Amino acid sequence: MTRLAIGETSNPIKGVFSGTCIRHSVNGGTIQKGTLNESKTFDVVNNRRAVLPYRPNKPHYQLILFCGSILNQFQINITRNSSSLQIRDKKAVQSERSFKYADLTVRLAGPDQLQSKPDVSALAFGKYFTDHMLKIFYYEALGGWQIPEITPLENLVLHPASKVFHYAIELFEGLKAYRGIDGKIRIFRPELNMERMNNSALRTGLPTFIGEELIKCCCRLISIDQEWVPHSTASSLYIRPTLIGIDPALGVASSKSALLYVIASPVGSYFKKTNENVGISLLADPQYTRAWPGGCGNYKMGSNYGPTVYVQKEATEKGLQQVLWLYGEDNQVTEVGTMNIFMFFINDDGEKELITPPLTSGLILPGVTRNSILALATEWNEFKVSERKFCMDEVCRLLSENRLLEMFGAGTACTVSPISYIEYAGRPLHIPTMKHSNPIYKMLLKHLFDIQYGVISDHPWAIPIE
Ligand SMILES: Cc1ncc(COP(=O)(O)O)c(C=O)c1O
Repeated sequence: MTRLAIGETSNPIKGVFSGTCIRHSVNGGTIQKGTLNESKTFDVVNNRRAVLPYRPNKPHYQLILFCGSILNQFQINITRNSSSLQIRDKKAVQSERSFKYADLTVRLAGPDQLQSKPDVSALAFGKYFTDHMLKIFYYEALGGWQIPEITPLENLVLHPASKVFHYAIELFEGLKAYRGIDGKIRIFRPELNMERMNNSALRTGLPTFIGEELIKCCCRLISIDQEWVPHSTASSLYIRPTLIGIDPALGVASSKSALLYVIASPVGSYFKKTNENVGISLLADPQYTRAWPGGCGNYKMGSNYGPTVYVQKEATEKGLQQVLWLYGEDNQVTEVGTMNIFMFFINDDGEKELITPPLTSGLILPGVTRNSILALATEWNEFKVSERKFCMDEVCRLLSENRLLEMFGAGTACTVSPISYIEYAGRPLHIPTMKHSNPIYKMLLKHLFDIQYGVISDHPWAIPIE
Protein backbone atom coordinates (compact mmCIF):
# COMPACT_ATOMS: atom_id res chain seq x y z
CA MET A 1 0.00 0.00 0.00
CA THR A 2 1.39 3.43 -0.86
CA ARG A 3 -0.12 6.74 0.29
CA LEU A 4 1.23 9.98 -1.07
CA ALA A 5 0.60 13.69 -0.82
CA ILE A 6 2.17 15.84 -3.51
CA GLY A 7 3.20 19.31 -2.35
CA GLU A 8 2.59 22.45 -4.35
CA THR A 9 6.06 23.97 -4.28
CA SER A 10 9.51 22.74 -5.35
CA ASN A 11 8.19 19.25 -5.98
CA PRO A 12 8.30 18.08 -2.36
CA ILE A 13 6.87 14.64 -1.91
CA LYS A 14 5.95 13.30 1.51
CA GLY A 15 4.26 10.06 2.31
CA VAL A 16 3.99 6.83 4.18
CA PHE A 17 5.10 3.60 2.66
CA SER A 18 4.09 0.15 3.67
CA GLY A 19 4.74 -2.77 1.40
CA THR A 20 7.17 -5.25 0.01
CA CYS A 21 10.30 -4.32 -1.84
CA ILE A 22 12.37 -6.89 -3.62
CA ARG A 23 15.83 -5.81 -4.55
CA HIS A 24 18.34 -7.71 -6.64
CA SER A 25 21.86 -7.14 -5.54
CA VAL A 26 24.42 -8.40 -7.95
CA ASN A 27 27.80 -9.70 -7.01
CA GLY A 28 30.04 -11.45 -9.49
CA GLY A 29 27.10 -12.73 -11.46
CA THR A 30 25.05 -14.12 -8.55
CA ILE A 31 21.67 -12.71 -7.58
CA GLN A 32 20.34 -12.31 -4.08
CA LYS A 33 16.85 -11.13 -3.28
CA GLY A 34 16.07 -9.20 -0.11
CA THR A 35 12.66 -8.37 1.27
CA LEU A 36 11.47 -5.29 3.08
CA ASN A 37 8.09 -5.13 4.67
CA GLU A 38 7.48 -2.32 7.11
CA SER A 39 5.95 1.15 7.44
CA LYS A 40 8.14 4.23 7.20
CA THR A 41 7.70 7.93 6.64
CA PHE A 42 9.77 9.36 3.81
CA ASP A 43 10.45 12.79 2.51
CA VAL A 44 12.00 13.74 -0.80
CA VAL A 45 12.60 17.40 -1.48
CA ASN A 46 13.28 19.14 -4.76
CA ASN A 47 13.46 15.91 -6.63
CA ARG A 48 17.13 15.93 -5.72
CA ARG A 49 17.89 14.88 -2.23
CA ALA A 50 16.47 12.10 -0.12
CA VAL A 51 16.42 13.20 3.50
CA LEU A 52 17.22 9.72 4.65
CA PRO A 53 20.99 9.00 4.67
CA TYR A 54 22.45 6.51 2.20
CA ARG A 55 23.12 3.14 3.88
CA PRO A 56 22.67 0.35 1.34
CA ASN A 57 21.91 -2.34 3.90
CA LYS A 58 19.28 -0.37 5.81
CA PRO A 59 15.57 -0.54 5.08
CA HIS A 60 15.31 3.19 4.42
CA TYR A 61 17.66 2.75 1.45
CA GLN A 62 15.04 0.50 -0.05
CA LEU A 63 12.57 3.28 0.59
CA ILE A 64 14.72 5.74 -1.31
CA LEU A 65 14.64 3.38 -4.27
CA PHE A 66 10.89 3.30 -3.95
CA CYS A 67 10.71 7.09 -3.72
CA GLY A 68 12.64 7.34 -7.01
CA SER A 69 10.19 4.97 -8.58
CA ILE A 70 7.22 6.97 -7.31
CA LEU A 71 8.81 10.20 -8.55
CA ASN A 72 8.93 8.70 -12.00
CA GLN A 73 5.20 8.52 -12.08
CA PHE A 74 5.17 12.31 -11.77
CA GLN A 75 7.62 13.06 -14.55
CA ILE A 76 4.75 14.21 -16.70
CA ASN A 77 6.82 16.55 -18.81
CA ILE A 78 9.39 14.01 -19.85
CA THR A 79 6.73 11.48 -20.69
CA ARG A 80 4.87 14.03 -22.76
CA ASN A 81 7.98 14.97 -24.73
CA SER A 82 9.10 11.43 -25.25
CA SER A 83 5.75 10.22 -26.39
CA SER A 84 6.12 12.27 -29.54
CA LEU A 85 9.19 10.29 -30.56
CA GLN A 86 8.96 7.95 -33.48
CA ILE A 87 10.81 4.78 -32.57
CA ARG A 88 11.82 2.94 -35.68
CA ASP A 89 13.68 -0.13 -34.44
CA LYS A 90 14.05 -2.18 -37.58
CA LYS A 91 13.29 -5.57 -36.06
CA ALA A 92 10.42 -5.80 -33.63
CA VAL A 93 11.57 -5.53 -30.02
CA GLN A 94 9.24 -7.47 -27.78
CA SER A 95 7.82 -4.90 -25.40
CA GLU A 96 7.25 -7.36 -22.59
CA ARG A 97 10.98 -8.11 -22.59
CA SER A 98 12.07 -4.47 -22.37
CA PHE A 99 12.78 -2.60 -19.16
CA LYS A 100 10.40 0.25 -18.40
CA TYR A 101 11.03 3.83 -17.41
CA ALA A 102 8.11 3.61 -14.95
CA ASP A 103 10.17 1.16 -12.87
CA LEU A 104 13.21 3.45 -12.62
CA THR A 105 14.69 3.88 -9.15
CA VAL A 106 17.02 6.66 -8.12
CA ARG A 107 19.83 6.63 -5.58
CA LEU A 108 21.29 10.10 -5.43
CA ALA A 109 24.94 10.84 -4.74
CA GLY A 110 25.73 11.96 -1.23
CA PRO A 111 27.45 15.32 -0.69
CA ASP A 112 30.85 13.63 -0.48
CA GLN A 113 30.29 11.94 -3.85
CA LEU A 114 29.55 15.11 -5.81
CA GLN A 115 32.36 16.18 -8.15
CA SER A 116 33.30 19.79 -8.77
CA LYS A 117 32.47 20.93 -12.27
CA PRO A 118 35.32 21.89 -14.59
CA ASP A 119 35.51 25.30 -16.20
CA VAL A 120 33.99 25.14 -19.70
CA SER A 121 37.24 26.47 -21.16
CA ALA A 122 39.06 23.42 -19.73
CA LEU A 123 36.73 20.83 -21.25
CA ALA A 124 38.34 18.23 -23.46
CA PHE A 125 36.49 15.27 -24.96
CA GLY A 126 35.44 12.60 -22.45
CA LYS A 127 37.66 13.65 -19.56
CA TYR A 128 35.07 14.54 -16.91
CA PHE A 129 31.93 12.70 -15.89
CA THR A 130 28.73 13.76 -14.16
CA ASP A 131 27.74 12.65 -10.66
CA HIS A 132 25.29 9.93 -11.68
CA MET A 133 24.91 7.04 -14.10
CA LEU A 134 22.09 4.79 -15.27
CA LYS A 135 22.35 1.01 -14.95
CA ILE A 136 20.07 -1.72 -16.23
CA PHE A 137 21.05 -5.36 -15.79
CA TYR A 138 19.75 -8.15 -17.98
CA TYR A 139 19.56 -11.72 -16.67
CA GLU A 140 17.88 -14.27 -18.88
CA ALA A 141 17.47 -16.56 -15.84
CA LEU A 142 15.43 -13.85 -14.11
CA GLY A 143 13.17 -13.15 -17.03
CA GLY A 144 15.35 -10.61 -18.84
CA TRP A 145 15.70 -6.92 -18.12
CA GLN A 146 15.75 -5.82 -14.48
CA ILE A 147 14.63 -2.47 -13.13
CA PRO A 148 16.55 0.59 -14.40
CA GLU A 149 18.43 2.42 -11.66
CA ILE A 150 20.17 5.75 -11.49
CA THR A 151 23.04 5.63 -9.01
CA PRO A 152 26.03 7.76 -8.18
CA LEU A 153 28.79 7.29 -10.82
CA GLU A 154 30.69 4.27 -9.58
CA ASN A 155 33.07 1.56 -10.70
CA LEU A 156 31.66 -1.67 -12.08
CA VAL A 157 32.46 -5.03 -10.52
CA LEU A 158 32.51 -7.70 -13.22
CA HIS A 159 33.59 -11.32 -13.37
CA PRO A 160 36.96 -11.62 -15.15
CA ALA A 161 35.46 -14.11 -17.62
CA SER A 162 32.82 -11.58 -18.73
CA LYS A 163 32.36 -11.77 -22.49
CA VAL A 164 33.05 -8.08 -22.93
CA PHE A 165 36.66 -8.63 -21.86
CA HIS A 166 37.35 -11.58 -24.14
CA TYR A 167 35.23 -11.28 -27.26
CA ALA A 168 34.50 -7.55 -27.26
CA ILE A 169 30.77 -8.20 -26.83
CA GLU A 170 30.15 -4.49 -26.53
CA LEU A 171 28.39 -1.65 -28.26
CA PHE A 172 27.85 1.98 -27.51
CA GLU A 173 26.11 5.11 -28.63
CA GLY A 174 26.90 8.81 -28.55
CA LEU A 175 24.41 11.66 -28.39
CA LYS A 176 24.46 15.09 -26.84
CA ALA A 177 22.37 17.30 -24.58
CA TYR A 178 22.62 20.99 -25.44
CA ARG A 179 21.77 23.96 -23.25
CA GLY A 180 19.99 26.30 -25.64
CA ILE A 181 20.11 30.06 -25.83
CA ASP A 182 16.77 30.03 -23.95
CA GLY A 183 18.30 27.97 -21.11
CA LYS A 184 16.33 24.83 -22.09
CA ILE A 185 18.19 21.55 -22.41
CA ARG A 186 17.54 19.54 -25.55
CA ILE A 187 18.70 16.21 -26.97
CA PHE A 188 19.03 15.65 -30.70
CA ARG A 189 17.14 12.89 -32.53
CA PRO A 190 17.71 10.26 -29.80
CA GLU A 191 15.36 7.79 -31.47
CA LEU A 192 17.95 7.28 -34.23
CA ASN A 193 20.59 6.37 -31.64
CA MET A 194 18.17 3.89 -30.09
CA GLU A 195 17.44 2.31 -33.46
CA ARG A 196 21.17 1.98 -34.18
CA MET A 197 21.80 0.63 -30.67
CA ASN A 198 19.21 -2.09 -31.06
CA ASN A 199 20.59 -3.00 -34.49
CA SER A 200 24.09 -3.30 -32.99
CA ALA A 201 22.69 -5.42 -30.13
CA LEU A 202 21.06 -7.83 -32.56
CA ARG A 203 24.33 -8.22 -34.48
CA THR A 204 26.35 -9.12 -31.40
CA GLY A 205 23.90 -11.32 -29.48
CA LEU A 206 23.02 -8.74 -26.83
CA PRO A 207 19.43 -8.12 -25.67
CA THR A 208 17.29 -5.48 -27.35
CA PHE A 209 14.88 -3.09 -25.67
CA ILE A 210 12.27 -0.42 -26.40
CA GLY A 211 14.24 2.65 -27.44
CA GLU A 212 11.71 5.09 -26.04
CA GLU A 213 12.09 3.60 -22.54
CA LEU A 214 15.84 4.21 -22.59
CA ILE A 215 15.33 7.74 -23.91
CA LYS A 216 13.07 8.50 -20.96
CA CYS A 217 15.59 7.04 -18.50
CA CYS A 218 18.37 9.13 -20.14
CA CYS A 219 16.20 12.25 -19.87
CA ARG A 220 15.81 11.60 -16.16
CA LEU A 221 19.59 11.15 -15.79
CA ILE A 222 20.22 14.41 -17.63
CA SER A 223 17.58 16.13 -15.53
CA ILE A 224 19.25 14.97 -12.30
CA ASP A 225 22.69 16.04 -13.56
CA GLN A 226 21.36 19.11 -15.37
CA GLU A 227 23.93 21.45 -13.87
CA TRP A 228 26.55 19.45 -15.76
CA VAL A 229 25.14 20.58 -19.10
CA PRO A 230 27.56 23.42 -19.89
CA HIS A 231 26.18 26.95 -19.88
CA SER A 232 27.87 27.56 -23.21
CA THR A 233 26.97 27.17 -26.86
CA ALA A 234 30.51 25.99 -27.54
CA SER A 235 30.00 22.93 -25.32
CA SER A 236 27.47 20.22 -24.56
CA LEU A 237 26.89 17.12 -22.45
CA TYR A 238 27.92 13.95 -24.28
CA ILE A 239 25.71 10.98 -23.38
CA ARG A 240 27.28 7.54 -23.73
CA PRO A 241 24.87 4.57 -23.55
CA THR A 242 26.87 1.33 -23.44
CA LEU A 243 25.78 -2.31 -23.59
CA ILE A 244 28.14 -5.13 -22.58
CA GLY A 245 27.98 -8.90 -22.26
CA ILE A 246 28.76 -9.89 -18.67
CA ASP A 247 28.13 -13.65 -18.48
CA PRO A 248 30.73 -15.02 -16.08
CA ALA A 249 31.72 -17.76 -18.54
CA LEU A 250 34.09 -18.14 -21.47
CA GLY A 251 32.77 -19.10 -24.91
CA VAL A 252 31.66 -17.10 -27.92
CA ALA A 253 27.87 -17.08 -27.66
CA SER A 254 24.88 -14.81 -27.17
CA SER A 255 24.88 -13.04 -23.80
CA LYS A 256 22.53 -14.38 -21.16
CA SER A 257 23.67 -11.63 -18.81
CA ALA A 258 24.28 -8.06 -19.88
CA LEU A 259 24.61 -4.59 -18.49
CA LEU A 260 23.31 -1.48 -20.17
CA TYR A 261 24.70 1.65 -18.59
CA VAL A 262 24.74 5.32 -19.46
CA ILE A 263 27.37 7.82 -18.39
CA ALA A 264 27.56 11.50 -19.32
CA SER A 265 30.49 13.80 -19.89
CA PRO A 266 30.58 17.57 -20.44
CA VAL A 267 32.55 18.16 -23.62
CA GLY A 268 34.11 20.95 -25.60
CA SER A 269 35.73 20.54 -28.99
CA TYR A 270 36.65 17.00 -30.10
CA PHE A 271 39.90 18.13 -31.64
CA LYS A 272 42.59 19.45 -29.36
CA LYS A 273 43.38 22.62 -31.23
CA THR A 274 40.60 23.91 -33.36
CA ASN A 275 41.06 26.99 -35.37
CA GLU A 276 37.90 27.54 -37.30
CA ASN A 277 39.87 28.91 -40.24
CA VAL A 278 41.96 25.77 -40.58
CA GLY A 279 40.42 22.48 -41.67
CA ILE A 280 41.50 19.03 -40.54
CA SER A 281 44.34 17.10 -42.15
CA LEU A 282 44.02 13.40 -43.01
CA LEU A 283 46.15 10.36 -43.68
CA ALA A 284 44.72 8.16 -46.49
CA ASP A 285 46.82 4.99 -46.59
CA PRO A 286 45.32 2.23 -48.80
CA GLN A 287 47.02 -0.52 -46.77
CA TYR A 288 44.54 0.02 -43.91
CA THR A 289 40.81 -0.44 -43.86
CA ARG A 290 38.19 0.09 -41.14
CA ALA A 291 35.33 -2.05 -42.40
CA TRP A 292 34.44 -4.49 -45.16
CA PRO A 293 31.24 -5.85 -46.72
CA GLY A 294 29.61 -8.40 -44.47
CA GLY A 295 31.54 -7.09 -41.46
CA CYS A 296 30.37 -4.76 -38.72
CA GLY A 297 31.38 -1.29 -39.93
CA ASN A 298 27.72 -0.29 -39.99
CA TYR A 299 27.29 -1.12 -36.29
CA LYS A 300 28.61 0.94 -33.43
CA MET A 301 30.62 -1.71 -31.65
CA GLY A 302 33.77 -1.19 -29.63
CA SER A 303 35.50 -3.86 -31.72
CA ASN A 304 35.47 -1.46 -34.70
CA TYR A 305 37.45 1.18 -32.86
CA GLY A 306 40.30 -0.57 -31.01
CA PRO A 307 42.11 -1.55 -34.24
CA THR A 308 42.02 2.03 -35.53
CA VAL A 309 44.29 3.30 -32.77
CA TYR A 310 47.47 2.08 -34.47
CA VAL A 311 46.61 3.84 -37.73
CA GLN A 312 45.54 6.99 -35.91
CA LYS A 313 48.95 6.97 -34.20
CA GLU A 314 50.64 6.82 -37.61
CA ALA A 315 48.62 9.82 -38.73
CA THR A 316 49.55 11.72 -35.57
CA GLU A 317 53.24 10.91 -36.04
CA LYS A 318 53.02 12.45 -39.51
CA GLY A 319 51.46 15.58 -38.02
CA LEU A 320 48.02 14.71 -39.43
CA GLN A 321 44.83 14.80 -37.35
CA GLN A 322 42.64 11.96 -38.59
CA VAL A 323 42.55 8.90 -40.81
CA LEU A 324 40.64 8.85 -44.09
CA TRP A 325 39.38 5.28 -44.29
CA LEU A 326 39.58 3.67 -47.73
CA TYR A 327 38.29 0.32 -48.89
CA GLY A 328 39.01 -2.02 -51.80
CA GLU A 329 41.27 -2.13 -54.86
CA ASP A 330 39.67 1.04 -56.16
CA ASN A 331 40.29 2.93 -52.87
CA GLN A 332 36.70 3.81 -52.12
CA VAL A 333 36.35 6.71 -49.73
CA THR A 334 34.33 5.44 -46.74
CA GLU A 335 34.65 7.46 -43.52
CA VAL A 336 36.94 9.95 -41.84
CA GLY A 337 38.10 9.14 -38.30
CA THR A 338 34.84 8.67 -36.40
CA MET A 339 32.80 10.69 -38.87
CA ASN A 340 30.86 10.19 -42.09
CA ILE A 341 32.34 11.95 -45.10
CA PHE A 342 30.80 14.35 -47.62
CA MET A 343 32.17 15.79 -50.87
CA PHE A 344 30.75 18.88 -52.60
CA PHE A 345 31.80 19.35 -56.21
CA ILE A 346 30.81 20.34 -59.74
CA ASN A 347 29.65 17.20 -61.53
CA ASP A 348 30.07 16.21 -65.19
CA ASP A 349 26.81 18.01 -66.03
CA GLY A 350 28.21 21.24 -64.60
CA GLU A 351 25.88 21.26 -61.58
CA LYS A 352 26.83 21.42 -57.92
CA GLU A 353 26.41 18.12 -56.10
CA LEU A 354 26.82 16.90 -52.53
CA ILE A 355 27.66 13.21 -52.16
CA THR A 356 28.30 10.75 -49.35
CA PRO A 357 28.87 6.99 -49.62
CA PRO A 358 25.71 4.85 -49.43
CA LEU A 359 24.75 2.69 -46.46
CA THR A 360 24.08 -0.33 -48.68
CA SER A 361 27.56 -1.89 -48.58
CA GLY A 362 27.80 -2.20 -44.78
CA LEU A 363 31.05 -0.16 -44.78
CA ILE A 364 29.48 2.98 -43.38
CA LEU A 365 28.07 3.75 -39.95
CA PRO A 366 24.57 5.21 -40.38
CA GLY A 367 25.35 8.50 -38.65
CA VAL A 368 22.64 10.66 -37.12
CA THR A 369 24.49 13.76 -38.36
CA ARG A 370 24.84 12.23 -41.83
CA ASN A 371 21.12 11.53 -41.93
CA SER A 372 20.34 15.08 -40.75
CA ILE A 373 22.67 16.70 -43.32
CA LEU A 374 21.14 14.68 -46.15
CA ALA A 375 17.65 15.70 -44.99
CA LEU A 376 18.54 19.39 -44.66
CA ALA A 377 20.40 19.60 -47.99
CA THR A 378 17.57 17.80 -49.78
CA GLU A 379 15.04 20.19 -48.23
CA TRP A 380 17.09 23.25 -49.28
CA ASN A 381 16.96 21.98 -52.87
CA GLU A 382 19.83 24.29 -53.91
CA PHE A 383 22.11 21.60 -55.30
CA LYS A 384 21.96 17.92 -56.19
CA VAL A 385 22.23 15.52 -53.21
CA SER A 386 23.26 11.89 -53.76
CA GLU A 387 24.31 8.83 -51.81
CA ARG A 388 26.84 7.11 -54.04
CA LYS A 389 30.21 5.43 -53.93
CA PHE A 390 33.27 7.52 -54.80
CA CYS A 391 36.96 6.67 -54.97
CA MET A 392 40.27 8.49 -54.52
CA ASP A 393 40.81 8.65 -58.32
CA GLU A 394 37.68 10.78 -58.60
CA VAL A 395 38.83 13.03 -55.72
CA CYS A 396 42.20 13.56 -57.49
CA ARG A 397 40.59 14.18 -60.88
CA LEU A 398 38.06 16.70 -59.53
CA LEU A 399 40.84 18.45 -57.67
CA SER A 400 43.05 18.70 -60.77
CA GLU A 401 40.10 20.07 -62.77
CA ASN A 402 39.26 22.64 -60.05
CA ARG A 403 35.86 21.03 -59.63
CA LEU A 404 36.30 19.84 -56.06
CA LEU A 405 34.75 22.48 -53.82
CA GLU A 406 34.54 21.06 -50.31
CA MET A 407 35.09 17.93 -48.27
CA PHE A 408 33.96 17.57 -44.68
CA GLY A 409 33.33 15.01 -41.96
CA ALA A 410 30.15 14.87 -39.89
CA GLY A 411 29.42 13.27 -36.54
CA THR A 412 27.95 13.98 -33.12
CA ALA A 413 31.28 14.35 -31.34
CA CYS A 414 33.01 16.44 -34.01
CA THR A 415 29.89 18.06 -35.58
CA VAL A 416 30.82 19.26 -39.09
CA SER A 417 34.58 19.35 -39.64
CA PRO A 418 36.00 20.84 -42.85
CA ILE A 419 38.85 18.94 -44.49
CA SER A 420 41.73 20.96 -45.89
CA TYR A 421 44.46 18.42 -46.55
CA ILE A 422 44.83 14.71 -47.43
CA GLU A 423 48.07 12.80 -47.65
CA TYR A 424 47.09 10.03 -50.08
CA ALA A 425 49.66 7.29 -50.59
CA GLY A 426 52.43 9.86 -50.00
CA ARG A 427 50.82 12.44 -52.29
CA PRO A 428 49.76 15.83 -50.87
CA LEU A 429 46.20 16.89 -51.78
CA HIS A 430 45.16 20.41 -50.80
CA ILE A 431 41.37 20.48 -50.55
CA PRO A 432 39.95 24.01 -51.04
CA THR A 433 37.11 23.60 -48.48
CA MET A 434 38.09 26.74 -46.57
CA LYS A 435 38.65 28.85 -49.69
CA HIS A 436 35.02 29.75 -50.43
CA SER A 437 33.14 32.76 -49.14
CA ASN A 438 29.96 30.91 -48.20
CA PRO A 439 30.84 27.21 -47.93
CA ILE A 440 28.00 24.73 -47.51
CA TYR A 441 29.72 23.00 -44.58
CA LYS A 442 29.30 26.24 -42.63
CA MET A 443 25.65 26.58 -43.61
CA LEU A 444 24.99 23.01 -42.48
CA LEU A 445 26.93 23.51 -39.27
CA LYS A 446 24.96 26.66 -38.49
CA HIS A 447 21.62 25.05 -39.25
CA LEU A 448 22.36 22.07 -36.99
CA PHE A 449 23.62 24.42 -34.28
CA ASP A 450 20.46 26.51 -34.53
CA ILE A 451 18.29 23.42 -34.05
CA GLN A 452 20.39 21.96 -31.24
CA TYR A 453 20.77 25.19 -29.27
CA GLY A 454 17.15 26.27 -29.69
CA VAL A 455 17.79 29.23 -32.03
CA ILE A 456 15.16 27.56 -34.20
CA SER A 457 12.54 26.92 -31.55
CA ASP A 458 10.39 23.80 -31.35
CA HIS A 459 12.21 21.92 -34.08
CA PRO A 460 10.99 18.29 -34.08
CA TRP A 461 14.59 16.98 -34.02
CA ALA A 462 15.37 18.75 -30.73
CA ILE A 463 13.65 17.11 -27.76
CA PRO A 464 13.47 19.39 -24.71
CA ILE A 465 14.13 17.99 -21.25
CA GLU A 466 12.09 19.64 -18.53
C1 LIG B 1 32.79 5.42 -37.53
C2 LIG B 1 31.80 6.50 -37.32
N1 LIG B 1 31.21 7.06 -38.39
C3 LIG B 1 30.32 8.05 -38.26
C4 LIG B 1 29.98 8.54 -37.02
C5 LIG B 1 28.97 9.65 -36.92
O1 LIG B 1 27.76 9.19 -36.37
P1 LIG B 1 26.80 10.21 -35.61
O2 LIG B 1 26.51 11.33 -36.53
O3 LIG B 1 25.61 9.40 -35.27
O4 LIG B 1 27.54 10.65 -34.40
C6 LIG B 1 30.57 7.99 -35.89
C7 LIG B 1 30.22 8.49 -34.56
O5 LIG B 1 29.46 7.87 -33.89
C8 LIG B 1 31.50 6.95 -36.03
O6 LIG B 1 32.08 6.40 -34.97
